Amino acid sequence: MDMMTTMQERRSVRSFTNRALEPDIPELIAEMRSSTSFLPAIFTASIPMIYIPVQGQKTEEGVRLGTYGVIRGHQGMITGSCSNCDEEVLQFGYEMEKIILQLCNLGIGSCWLGGTFNRKLYSSYLQVPETQIIPAVIPIGYAADASRALDTIMRRLAGSDRRLPMGELFFRGDFDHPIDASSAERLWYRGLEMVRIAPSASNKQPWRGVVSAEGHQVHLYLHENPKYNRSLGYPIQLLDMGIAMTHLELAFHALSLPGSWHISDPCIDLPHDQLRYIASYTS
Ligand SMILES: Cc1cc2nc3c(=O)[nH]c(=O)nc-3n(C[C@H](O)[C@H](O)[C@H](O)COP(=O)(O)O)c2cc1C
Repeated sequence: MDMMTTMQERRSVRSFTNRALEPDIPELIAEMRSSTSFLPAIFTASIPMIYIPVQGQKTEEGVRLGTYGVIRGHQGMITGSCSNCDEEVLQFGYEMEKIILQLCNLGIGSCWLGGTFNRKLYSSYLQVPETQIIPAVIPIGYAADASRALDTIMRRLAGSDRRLPMGELFFRGDFDHPIDASSAERLWYRGLEMVRIAPSASNKQPWRGVVSAEGHQVHLYLHENPKYNRSLGYPIQLLDMGIAMTHLELAFHALSLPGSWHISDPCIDLPHDQLRYIASYTS
């Protein structure tokens, strides 16, 4: 599958078959991360990503790493730890989504969990230092054909099948000019559609983007919900922004618009104070 199709077909999977995963997942992840295109220069932290094989919710040592019953049948967990700051949580979201999409390309399903797991239990199992946090854990496995009633409830609660219209998310030149269907044939428009369908915590879709007048740059912003963003003690919406960066970059590459990330605030007038500049992509 090409990356555009992968992003279009990806869904959060909460019910898995009991089919075992291939044992080389850790090597696969290490290989992905060692590719030169994996990590842009704007990210400087070294974030450990760990794979934990599980069966029946238990690790090989018999430790029960549950998900409050939200996930069933997964065969492994991917997680990692980083400092509790915006930059590293952003990087965690970016790196993890790159891994998730490549696994998805191999037919392996997953679901981001930022809330429905016992953070303390995972921290103590992985002996995470007190200065670090586990922003999220990702159960992985092969998706079950039939989903459970709980999956439907979780999707309904988060409104997972709805996305904001393009014109509420993306703008041209400044925030006064929403993009409209007259740009639909442009390659960058098709790239931004892949950001629109990305996963986000509680499906809040906090990403906003301003495309430069000539169409070569996209400036990404967080439309923060301050109360929600701090509700778990770490900036969960920065995970969403890292995820959005990965979708944008992979889509633009697939559309023959390769480019790079930089952080240089274009100082565009902001219509309200919940918008925060994150990064820009130049192709
Ligand atoms: C950072 C992040 C945290 C999430 N946390 C949870 C969670 O704790 N429990 C859960 O069931 N789903 C969680 N999700 C999944 C979202 O609810 C889901 O991505 C969203 O509703 C869109 O649905 P989709 O991924 O199927 O497109 C999380 C997603 C993200 C990106």
